[in-house]
Amino acid sequence: MVELTRTVRVCVNDPAEDAGRGASLSSGVDNAFAAWPAMRGLGRYYEVTVAYEGEPDGATGYLVDIRLVDRVVRERVLPVLGRAVSVGKPVAMGRLMGEVLTEVKAGVGAGVSGVALLLTPMLRLRMLASDPERVLVTHSYEFSSAHRLALADRDDAENFDLFGKCANPAGHGHNYRLDVTVGCEVDEAGGVPMAETLDGWVDRRVIEVLDHKHLNEDVAAFAGLNPSVEHIAQVIWGLLAGSEGEVGSGVVLDEVRVWETGKTSCRYRGPVAGSLS
Ligand code: NI
Repeated sequence: MVELTRTVRVCVNDPAEDAGRGASLSSGVDNAFAAWPAMRGLGRYYEVTVAYEGEPDGATGYLVDIRLVDRVVRERVLPVLGRAVSVGKPVAMGRLMGEVLTEVKAGVGAGVSGVALLLTPMLRLRMLASDPERVLVTHSYEFSSAHRLALADRDDAENFDLFGKCANPAGHGHNYRLDVTVGCEVDEAGGVPMAETLDGWVDRRVIEVLDHKHLNEDVAAFAGLNPSVEHIAQVIWGLLAGSEGEVGSGVVLDEVRVWETGKTSCRYRGPVAGSLS
């Protein structure tokens, strides 16, 4: 079994005008790297990712023809997005993700395992075909912290051997990026908690605790715990797990990913706080 993902970049310009362009939006487009339809003015840019699981064809090696995925997104998903943004009232995002999943499955096939919609570079919604009552919301944050990697029972030379320049006694800093993913039950109105609600929760529980702090000196969770990116991810899980009720009912922490640099990240998924000792 393999999983193939395909991301299709689209712009919603004037929905009425897009509707009138019909098939020209989805056919004969070879230069769609940036987005097709392209941005024509003050439009909206989205990325739609389709995940497909199964066994690849023995001869072609193909699991699914990505040209089919592209066409389905442009012919069936783009109109859903266009209608949603044109109604002039708040969009029930859980219901919208359900519509996107339904259209993609109908057009691409039963092997579709999920869809994702990138709303901003920092906000992504996903719906899995196996769990269409839930939306996975991933939002990104940043915090700046100092830390020192060292073991208390080793001297400076031994710590330099273990951790290199990260053992510098005065510490050093990083601008960390944090991706928090929560699974949200779609409510009766078709909605799910969105970024604004998540922001307050993550701010209170994580950012206020870690941002502009020396992790070794200022943060109780790191007393006796070397603040590696692995431990930071686990500590952040512990700071968030169990308090999801602050976001809304039916919300469950799914995973956290901490980026120490653009090249190094650590993902952590449960079980619960207090399991680190
Ligand atoms: Ni470091």
